[in-house]
Amino acid sequence: MPMQTMRARGSQGEWRTSSWRQLPAAQQPDWPDAEALKEAEATLAALPPLVIASEARRLTSALAAVSRGEAFLLQAGDCAESFREFSADAIRDKLKVILQMAVTLTYAAGVPVVKVGRIAGQFAKPRTSPVERVGGIELEAFRGHMVNDEAFDSSARRPDPGRLVAAYHQAAATLNLLRAFTKGGFADLSHVHGWNQEFVASSAEGRRYEQIASEIDRALRFMAACGIDLVAEEGLHATDFWTSHEALILHYEEALTRRDSLTGDWVDTSGHFLWVGERTRQIDGAHVEFVSGVINPVGVKLGPSVTPDEVLALCARLDPERTPGRLTLITRVGMHGVADALPPLIDAVREAGHPVVWACDPMHGNTFTSENGRKTRRFEDIVSELREWFRVHRSMGSWPGGVHVELTGDDVTECLGGAEAIVEDDLDQRYTTMCDPRLNARQSLDLAFDVAELLRS
Ligand code: PEP
Ligand code: CO
Repeated sequence: MPMQTMRARGSQGEWRTSSWRQLPAAQQPDWPDAEALKEAEATLAALPPLVIASEARRLTSALAAVSRGEAFLLQAGDCAESFREFSADAIRDKLKVILQMAVTLTYAAGVPVVKVGRIAGQFAKPRTSPVERVGGIELEAFRGHMVNDEAFDSSARRPDPGRLVAAYHQAAATLNLLRAFTKGGFADLSHVHGWNQEFVASSAEGRRYEQIASEIDRALRFMAACGIDLVAEEGLHATDFWTSHEALILHYEEALTRRDSLTGDWVDTSGHFLWVGERTRQIDGAHVEFVSGVINPVGVKLGPSVTPDEVLALCARLDPERTPGRLTLITRVGMHGVADALPPLIDAVREAGHPVVWACDPMHGNTFTSENGRKTRRFEDIVSELREWFRVHRSMGSWPGGVHVELTGDDVTECLGGAEAIVEDDLDQRYTTMCDPRLNARQSLDLAFDVAELLRS
């Protein structure tokens, strides 16, 4: 094997796409049919890559700018993508709200935004409990449509490797439409008004957005009047939109990992950016082993129990060469955890010289169950965690590099509060997530205005 593919792995030997198999792999389904799993892996291994190495490198460069404080990362999308709720409209509406948020951040805070969707691969979920009990019946937990179905029924919950292949095809179709939209004119800055969906435009934050859109129109007319050739300015007509998901089901990730013929590097072609979740970030575990060997930019979620030593070990393992943009640390410690948890982490990482991107996931540490049994989050708590997180970074002279949120373009009622003041009794109206509660398009835009203010101050 050429030198490029060999990575220092302490006593564990050389990295291979399959070396994770020798290590404990948390959160993997118990696939009941080994033959069917092998077949699915072989099918995936023969299919074309979804993304290519040069794209992963370009995203690493974009994230390097974030690590230097020259740009901001917006990572957003579903908690779990669904095989059933899969349509052009849903993809378009999600893209619309992310583009609205990005343009709001860029316009109001003056920073370029790196846009990364939790999309085109976000089909697998880690679970707190491997089983779910309803009444006297206990079934395997729902693990995302890449593995099984959420219906509470033993055949629906049986892990089906055919779903790995189905996930690939849905990811391919999703990515195809995203590429068309973002390169084919839909993301053109002359269309900023068109990204404001009707139910958003009628709200206070929607009107605030319209104002920004009109100012952008005016700025574009001004530039044209000055003789600037706007048609020739590619950045006004197309944008980069990157895909990401939690690299959870390692059989899927391994089968889609390919050798870059030009450099010999390994790239996980299932998505541009991959992250390791809070439940699978064990330093000696299979997930960290797997992502350590691919050149994609990677993220790690860090929950409230994380220690500086653990973070340093993750940095050493995932970013041994201290490559700007390679590693994003996504803290999700809850609004009350930030003040204590974050400063020692920032200190330790800075001391060790890792040029990481710091991102805040203000969702997963602020989840609770409402009186009527719905998993939910308060908009105010989400903003609180962000506000604390910005405050700590500012006070330590470190760049608050990005946000990681769960949202949808639909008019759902899953998170409480926001300008439209959703209350617990409203949750049942349009609660459609398969997993965690998402911000709706109005709450998402509202959040973008808050983040823009935090970035400016
Ligand atoms: C998620 O991002 O949906 C998730 C499960 O996050 P975490 O690993 O931080 O709990
Ligand atoms: Co989630």
